[in-house]
Amino acid sequence: MGLLPQTVFAGTNGPEAAVAGPRETLLLNKGWRFFDGDIPFPIIVGHGATYNAAKAGSAQGAAATGYDDSEWPPVSLPHDFVSFQPIVEDANVSQGYRKRGIVWYRNTLRFEKADNGKHIELQLDGIATNATVWFNGTLVARNWSGYNSVYIDLTPYATYGDLVNSLVIRVDANAMEGWWYEGGGIYRDAWIVKRNPVHIVTDGVFAHPIKDDEGWKIPVEVTLNNTGLSDSQVTVISRLWDKRAAGVLSGIAAEVQATTKVSALENAVVHMELAHGSTLTNPALWSVDNPELYEVHTRVEQDGKLLDEITTTCGFRTQRFDVDKGFFLNDKHLKIQGVCIHQDHAGVGVAVPDGVIDFRLRRLKELGCNAIRFSHNAQSRALMDACDRHGFLVMAENRVFNPALIHMAELQWLVRRDRNHPSVYLWSVFNEEPMQGTEAGYQMVRRMSEAVKELDTSRPVTAAMNDGLFTPLNVAHAVDVVGINYQQDQYDAFHKAHPTIPVFSSEDTSAFMTRGVYKTDMDKHVSASYDDDAADWGATHCKAWKAIATRDYIAGGFVWTGFDYHGEPTPYIWPSNSSVFGIMDLCGFEKAAFWIHQAQWVKDRPVLGLVPHWNWETAGQPVRVMACSNQEEVELFVNGKSAGRQKVDPYEMNFWTVPYAPGAIEVRGYTGGKVVRTTRNETTGEPLALRLTADRAGLKADGRDAQPLTVEAIDKKGRHVPLAQHMITYEISGGAIVGLGNGDANSLEPEKGDKRSLYNGYGQVIVQSLEGQAGTLRIRATAPGLKAADLRLPVEATAPLAYQVTTPSVQLLDSWFMAPMSVTRPDPGQKAADNDMNSWQWFRPGTLNRPLDQDGYSLVAVRYAPFAKVQKAGGKVEFLGITGACEVYENGKLIGTKTDAAPGALTLDLPALSGERRLSVLFKVRAGEAYGFNGQIRTRSKT
Ligand code: GAL
Repeated sequence: MGLLPQTVFAGTNGPEAAVAGPRETLLLNKGWRFFDGDIPFPIIVGHGATYNAAKAGSAQGAAATGYDDSEWPPVSLPHDFVSFQPIVEDANVSQGYRKRGIVWYRNTLRFEKADNGKHIELQLDGIATNATVWFNGTLVARNWSGYNSVYIDLTPYATYGDLVNSLVIRVDANAMEGWWYEGGGIYRDAWIVKRNPVHIVTDGVFAHPIKDDEGWKIPVEVTLNNTGLSDSQVTVISRLWDKRAAGVLSGIAAEVQATTKVSALENAVVHMELAHGSTLTNPALWSVDNPELYEVHTRVEQDGKLLDEITTTCGFRTQRFDVDKGFFLNDKHLKIQGVCIHQDHAGVGVAVPDGVIDFRLRRLKELGCNAIRFSHNAQSRALMDACDRHGFLVMAENRVFNPALIHMAELQWLVRRDRNHPSVYLWSVFNEEPMQGTEAGYQMVRRMSEAVKELDTSRPVTAAMNDGLFTPLNVAHAVDVVGINYQQDQYDAFHKAHPTIPVFSSEDTSAFMTRGVYKTDMDKHVSASYDDDAADWGATHCKAWKAIATRDYIAGGFVWTGFDYHGEPTPYIWPSNSSVFGIMDLCGFEKAAFWIHQAQWVKDRPVLGLVPHWNWETAGQPVRVMACSNQEEVELFVNGKSAGRQKVDPYEMNFWTVPYAPGAIEVRGYTGGKVVRTTRNETTGEPLALRLTADRAGLKADGRDAQPLTVEAIDKKGRHVPLAQHMITYEISGGAIVGLGNGDANSLEPEKGDKRSLYNGYGQVIVQSLEGQAGTLRIRATAPGLKAADLRLPVEATAPLAYQVTTPSVQLLDSWFMAPMSVTRPDPGQKAADNDMNSWQWFRPGTLNRPLDQDGYSLVAVRYAPFAKVQKAGGKVEFLGITGACEVYENGKLIGTKTDAAPGALTLDLPALSGERRLSVLFKVRAGEAYGFNGQIRTRSKT
């Protein structure tokens, strides 16, 4: 995901000044410390402690500001901790036999003095699963879905300058929302966004072009918020930028503005309309083949001063469903050639780098796919942006079927975040729900559909139904378009019973295929590549598409699935730990299903797949050969001799059975009687060497850019050896390995580290750049008996990404209590009665105490257990700001004195001592003079 705008652009009237908006968007992916396990909250017994624990800022245990996390290992986001766990038989099968559990993350943030007065928001893009978030010891969010983002206003609690802020997240990944691998932890990006108190709220601009009888227009809705102290009168300006002409922003295509009052601590919503202007008369349309994108720049100004600014992307396209003819994009018929996918990938679990997201979408383009159903949940922003860029229609799907407030908020968040994407063409409120055929289901969907339409009326609402289609009242009556999962034999009956409801296949196929395997073996948990095996509820790739392609009223379909995914192994279980439904395997390597769908879907170029390889053991053994072609005829040649020419079956593919003889098989595809494409599989020699192939020519040195590399074994002629299973070891410099895969659904090998075997000829290693280390990434792959492969990838210097400043762990002492002022000198060890909440006062450091009327003493104290290192070897206590003369005691023993009454800092030694201790400060107060702590108090170890 790119950073939000600090855009420099050129206008039609010459270059406009660089607009460095006051908004700062900073990644918060660094500085995290991680604990792999739960830390139960302490059981509180005393009344005073109970009273204090119930207060803001007083989170207990590992959520406390002063908790010792200094020994926790550092981690960077995105972090799917489950992907690091071993695959074990007693773990959950649906989640890929990986242990989940409860974990903790802590971070320490420092904001600049100049940030004081800004609006500061924490954005957590995705945490699996149940997350509890504390900021400076105060509970700030509970988020019970692993798929939606959380935006948290930190402004009221934040501290600035030398003061640091504690951020703690407890993640309960034992909670599951799905029946597939969901990963665990803070697995998407985290951000800190600093804005003017008067600002555009997150996801607060809706600017999606629509076309009506008068032509194109963009209704613009801008939601503003004001956390400042006074009401503000502002001007909101939205401009459509036409960035055609080789990607250069060439000018303002339309502009609109409005003024509004944003009252303090309130939202204001502005409605405007971008209309007129040549671009709007004749915009370049977004389509799956030409995904033309435009930008809307929205600014908030006050008396000519820029307060906030944001860029949203949009695309001009129309869509409609016809009950008889299916789907139309820009008034052109488009059969939906879609795939369902989950969000994980080999090696990285659900923490998928943007570079791998891009790779996956390019693979789907090559397949001829034009639509993706994001089953069954919201995806990352980066993935949604990439769908706009690559030209995929997206069926965006909600996770939980429930109109209760908490889940309605998740649904509305999804629509609000994703409604600008031209790719989104359907909002799906559920997948396969037992209540789908009931009146209760109908009532639930009515409400959810309404919640969607409150925010967007330009896309229909749908639901993926696997039953209940024919009951008197069911969800089909509450959606605009019906999605049918499987039940292909019910299509005609449904269409007949509901001639006014558009319908499509929201899910079909669920066929089994293991890459590089040509004989199904139930004992070995592998399925052959001839498309013979499918789940009882599903159909083969060929048959499922045939049912869709031969019915005009079915708008298209979504194959289950585009890629294999971790978890839900079917039909096999342990040690199978990932699915084999994919058209591609877990790494994105093509299976035979890839050629089948290419033959069915690709129209603009000849495709010709040939199955199987030609490395068999016994001469004469009969081998089944399959050709997948989008031409008119295909002819198979075995060692140069024709085995027969056949008319292409565009749905069921073409087959021959021929005796094996080493050499080659070749298939020729004919159109108009001429050979337009030839594919050849040769018998290879023994594997001799390894080969590494990059996905892209290089990487950017931002520490974030990543890409998959392919490793394979080759023979002496450089030919891919299809059955090689060698264990490969990698050595890398100038980059890092973030994951390993090979597409073997039965492998128990870790996906992390530096070793992974090939599976049927292929392996994948995902490499990432190191931050600030431009130059060359070097990677070497070795395997016993094979010549090593070396690959060099140029790593290009790039502007560093903007990160939020974080600091090492700090123990803050922030829960103090104060004795009543006394005229005579009190005993510094004096304590309050445990049930006395009022003669002693609990307080937080940072503000001076008001002056007293007469000279006297004020005793303040804190109980705490120093970090383990300090307990062991002693350390320091730092008073960052202390005003007034005082004596400091530890467990009743004087450890320091401040004789000067003026404000200043004080650092004192702390002795080694295990367990809890009491620190007290006895102020000698002079009448009329303020005193106390005007800064944080923290401890640190000596080292
Ligand atoms: C469907 C379901 C998918 C997946 C698939 C496997 O019923 O919607 O999530 O479980 O079956 O065939």
